[in-house]
This record gives sequence, structure tokens and C-alpha cells, in this order.
Amino acid sequence: IICLLASAKLVTPTTDTNASTYFNRTSFPENFMFGVASSSYQVATLNLTRVMLEVTEVRVYGKILLDLSQVSLSLSLFLIMNFKLSERIAGGTNALVANDFFNRYESDLGTLKDLHMDAFRFSINWARLLPSGNISQVNQYGIDFYNKVINESIENGLNPLPLLRNIQFLYRSHVLRVNFTGLEPFVTIFHWDSPQALEDKYEGFLNDQIVNDFRDYADLCFREFGDRVKYWITLNEPQKFSSAGYDSGDFAPGRCSNWVNETYCKKGNSSTEPYIVAHHLLLSHAAAVKTYKEKYQASQNGKIGITLNTPWFEPYSNSTDDHDAAKRSLDFTLGWFLNPITYGDYPASMRELVKERLPKFSSQDEVNVAFDFVGLNYYTAYYAENTNPADPDRLRYQTDSNVDVKAKKDGVSLGPQAGATWQYVYPEGIQYLLNHIKDDYKDPIIYITENGYSRVLAKLSESETLDDSPRITFHFNHLQNVLKSINDYGVKVKGYFAWTFTDDFEFTDGYTIGFGLVHINRQNGGRNEAYRRLHRRSTQVIPREPT
Ligand code: NOJ
Repeated sequence: IICLLASAKLVTPTTDTNASTYFNRTSFPENFMFGVASSSYQVATLNLTRVMLEVTEVRVYGKILLDLSQVSLSLSLFLIMNFKLSERIAGGTNALVANDFFNRYESDLGTLKDLHMDAFRFSINWARLLPSGNISQVNQYGIDFYNKVINESIENGLNPLPLLRNIQFLYRSHVLRVNFTGLEPFVTIFHWDSPQALEDKYEGFLNDQIVNDFRDYADLCFREFGDRVKYWITLNEPQKFSSAGYDSGDFAPGRCSNWVNETYCKKGNSSTEPYIVAHHLLLSHAAAVKTYKEKYQASQNGKIGITLNTPWFEPYSNSTDDHDAAKRSLDFTLGWFLNPITYGDYPASMRELVKERLPKFSSQDEVNVAFDFVGLNYYTAYYAENTNPADPDRLRYQTDSNVDVKAKKDGVSLGPQAGATWQYVYPEGIQYLLNHIKDDYKDPIIYITENGYSRVLAKLSESETLDDSPRITFHFNHLQNVLKSINDYGVKVKGYFAWTFTDDFEFTDGYTIGFGLVHINRQNGGRNEAYRRLHRRSTQVIPREPT
């Protein structure tokens, strides 16, 4: 059996040679990584104080969690907002327990290995390591937890338990593949959950003091985990964090200009704050990359990058103005961050339109610190129509860009709507974006750090939920477009992470929307067995659906 396993890691061979229609894992370049992505806040457990909650016991799926010492260890900004403003989350839910990954990480990681994933993207909860936000008070429980997750991830399949699991799996699925290398950890340092203590101390990312605190926190991560973690992501989607946290007020810390009352949002200034926060995020990223390059890369030999997000924008009409509007939209989402880290300043269109509200870098080098890869999160596509003057009721960065972002043209969207109200399925968009990044941003190495399909769980019966064909088709079609970018356009894409592993807590949709390859039963936290079916299908060649 050992010999059999040693020759494994094969996929079911395809008999069809039409590579534009059919492909499988071996169609991708050697060492291309397939993985899943997650974030601490959206799957873990117990992120806030007992005092905040005014509870005397904490139950995890009906079981009393006795070790309350853990509860007071990390005060996450998001959770506090969740509890204060829970009516803003669909279903009035919160992420206190989420998927209980904190207690179930071993079996979850086992499942990922059964799925033959190469890599696992997860984030570290800043407040769990540094409850006060200050480097002088390190929480050893937090360090221990992430050590366990990292060690369990990289554990290779030859240890007795995973080996048994794999043999069992081979027997069940008749598939000759086994993962001998464990899962490559891709660690996000900041996936939006900052310590409440820093918010209380100096208003978090609104203050430039955060840059030093973030650098210290990143340094701690490299020091503690860098011997095993070889892929670091400084920030997740800074664009979304800046605009949802400081413009619409949907995300923590929930600030906006259209202040109605404290329940609605905290009084902020949407015309300046998102830009200030974005600026401090960029400087934090640069400080972390610099620290890694100067202190750790030579000995640890890892890579460091950032994860950025944008929809794809199609011009609303064939006019030059609308073509320019589509390009400008990309500047105000992706370029807002990718331009400074590649060229040292914000895109010219942003400088021209945002003017003095856009902060200045003291020098190009302040932010343009050589990084190793760009992570791209892609989910949806919209139309962009040139407009001047801009509609003041839009998100500020959209208003400032003089673009009317539209989901539909003549009542029709670019692709079918998925479960989330904001998601329209447009697989070509991922290809166009990859090509755009290659062309405009010096042909960097790219990982698709998220791409996922949302389903409205409440509308589905259990068996419908477990039939994941729409999600399989979604990933198949997007992967086909990624492959085209690689083969036809030479884009250096090195990996693809599905969002997400298990149905998670979505920041505003709560548990109503499912993105997971594995479904979670919210009554008892149970993981379904659907992944086995998914696996069986995914090793087969799936024809593209007729369009
Ligand atoms: C991107 C974010 O990084 C992730 O946290 C979120 O769950 C997904 N979008 C889906 O909404």
C-alpha cells in the first residue's frame, strides 16, 4: 500500500484532448497550488470578553466552555460592533461561536487533506496575540493556538492518523491520490479584526500610530511562526475595510457621514476617513514587508504579499467616456492600493479627482517596498458609466471617481445573480483582471486568494444544500478562465483558493449565505459529508456548461 501511495498524487486522466473545454489539475503549471481560504473572525470561537457580553458562562453548541480565561483574552473590534449593532447583521447573529474552528481545527484540517488541497489560507486574530494591542503583553494562549493550527496543517500524510484516514478515503473513493505534504499555510496577518484596545486608545486605523503597532504585531508573527509559514499576506482587502468601515458604516468600526443615531453608525466623515484609513493601511503593509525583508526573509526564506479585491467593470456603452469610466473604477478599487505599492503613489485619476483629501506619501520609497506576490479576490462584475457630476448618495470612492456603478444594463446583469445580493457570476472577469494586472502592474506573481459562490441557505432544503453542482460549475468556469490567462497571456498565476472551506459567518449577511465547500449544521456545528461527493466529482473532468 505504501508503494501505491508513493506513486500517487495522480488525477483521473482525461481522455479528451480538447483542452479549452476539458481540464484537470495537471493542466495547471507544476507547483500550482489549490487551496481554500478562511479568516479567523469568520470561523473561530470566542473573540470577546465575558464582561462585554455580561454572561457568566459561554456555551459552544450547547456545551459549557469551562475555560473562561480564554474568553477574556481577545477583544476584537468586529465582535464588539456585532454585539452592539447585531440588528445590522442578517438574522441578528454574531460570530461568538462561528464554526467553532477553535475547537475543531484538527478534524477540519483532516478534511482538507482528504480533499487533497495543497494549501490553507487562514488569518491570525491580532487581539488573540496582543489583547491590549501592545507588543509588551503577548498572550501565550494565542501563540499556542496558532502553533497548533500551523503544525497540524503542515503535518504530512505519513503520520499514522492521517495515513489511516487517507487509506480509508482511498478505499471509499477509489481515487489514487494522497497528500504527502500536508497543507501549505498562507497566513493573513490582518483580515479586518483589530484589537478594540487600539480603537479605544487612538481610534485605530484613523491614527498613524497604528503603523508601528501593526509592524510590531507582524514582527511577532514572523518571529513565532515564520520557521513554518512561508507565505504571508499583510492585509486582506484594504479597500473593503476602508469603505465599509468608514463610509457605509457596515463593518466595524461602523463610521459614516449619514449619521442618524448610534445604532445606525458612529459619526464619521465619509469624504476623508476612508482615504486616511487606506493610507495607514498601505503604510502598515509597507512596514510589515520591510520588516520581513530586512529581518527574516534571508533565514526563513518565505514570501510576502497583499490581498486586494475588485469587481471587474465593463463599460456601460461603447463610448470612450464609459471605457474611461471602467478603467477609472479599477483605479479606485484595485489601483488605490496596487498603484502605491508598485509605483509609489496613488493612481493619477485619484490624485486628480480626490485632490487634497487624498493623503500624500513622504517619498516613493515609503510605500513602494518590493513585495513577492499579489493576492486577488474576485467575486463579481458590474457596469461602469461615466457621470459628472457624480451621484452624492453612492459610496464615496464611487462618487469621487465620477462613475455610476450599475449592476444591470436594460434590466440585465453581466451574469446570473448568485445568493448574495451583490454577486453576479461573470467568470470572464477573472481572466480580464489577471491580464490587466499583468499589463499595468509590472507582471507580478499572482495568487487568487479568494473566489467563491454564495447560496442563500434558508431557501434550500438539506438535500439541495448538499447538492453543490452550482458551486462546482462556478469554480470550474472560473478556473478555466484562470487557465486561459496563464496559457494565452502568460500571467504568472501560482495558485487558486476557494472561498471558503466551511460555511462561514459573513460580515453583514451573517449565517444566511453559504460560501462553503463544506456545509455546517448550525444546530450542532456538525460538518456535512458533501465534500466527499464534491471530491469525487472534482477528480472527474467536468464539461463546461453550455452558455
Ligand atoms: C471577501 C472577504 O475577504 C471575506 O472575508 C468575505 O467573507 C468574502 N469576501 C465573501 O463575502
